[in-house]
Amino acid sequence: MKVAVITGAASGIGAGLAKQAVALGMKVVLADRDQAGLEKIAQELGDQALAVVTDVTSQASLDALADKAYAAFGQVDMLFNNAGVLTTGNCWEISDAQWQKSWQVNVNGIVNGLRTFVPRLLKADRPARIINTASVGGFLPSPLMSPYSATKFAVVALTESLVNELATLNPQIKVSLLAPGPVKSAIFREAPSEASAQFHSLMTHMLDENGLDADEFARLVFEAINRGEYWIVPQPKMLDPLLEARNKIIANRANPVFAWAPEAVN
Ligand SMILES: NC(=O)c1ccc[n+]([C@@H]2O[C@H](COP(=O)([O-])OP(=O)(O)OC[C@H]3O[C@@H](n4cnc5c(N)ncnc54)[C@H](O)[C@@H]3O)[C@@H](O)[C@H]2O)c1
Repeated sequence: MKVAVITGAASGIGAGLAKQAVALGMKVVLADRDQAGLEKIAQELGDQALAVVTDVTSQASLDALADKAYAAFGQVDMLFNNAGVLTTGNCWEISDAQWQKSWQVNVNGIVNGLRTFVPRLLKADRPARIINTASVGGFLPSPLMSPYSATKFAVVALTESLVNELATLNPQIKVSLLAPGPVKSAIFREAPSEASAQFHSLMTHMLDENGLDADEFARLVFEAINRGEYWIVPQPKMLDPLLEARNKIIANRANPVFAWAPEAVN
């Protein structure tokens, strides 16, 4: 029976991935700093799930997670580095603490996950897959959420470095970059600043109205994993036309435009 470790598993996409993994016959190790949320999902999933309160910004916390995962289930076949946070506001008005938190969770959280798990996966010397969650926002920068754009671009770059490093070291350990479009979740939980109040309310509305259900999203993710895909983009319409337009802008040295939801910033 395969085992998946999922960070950010107490809510939204992570919880959806956990439910889908169990539905597919896997065991899951649920990792999140939100203990109450974690326990709720773990209870729902029963014996197939192990909940481990984890802070991805702490290496020691991830090491403890790995120790518990291997002690409980003996193996890890999939690692979802999925925990993430989002802050809104003008880039120069967002506090240093908020900027640091975005880097610590969205980027270092993944690096910490890799530091903990890659040596163990290499030692196990068996097939495995690491799935790092970026965003369509990792290809399409947005105003009023610059820490998110910057860190998700970093995740795209980091993951491409990783796949090429592992391809030479041990090709059994596969890598995927997951780029969600809008998915119903609590990602916009942080209160907006005055400057981003309208943007924040439009984005939460857009998520509520047009976001994919997290369970349906997770189903599409596992289908892509089954196909062995590196680029997992379950909502290609949310990325492809805009990325093509952005690439043209760069090629033509034209001025950047915000293509996602221009009404949100005008
Ligand atoms: N929902 C979307 O529309 C969307 C779109 C693109 C990308 N994403 C990405 O998907 C991932 C999951 O987000 P979501 O939408 O489910 O949001 P969410 O807020 O519902 O879930 C994120 C989870 O991460 C956890 N988390 C935050 N900091 C943590 C830490 N330091 N240690 C451990 N856990 C921590 C939170 O407690 C929460 O349970 C994130 O990386 C997010 O950036 C989401």
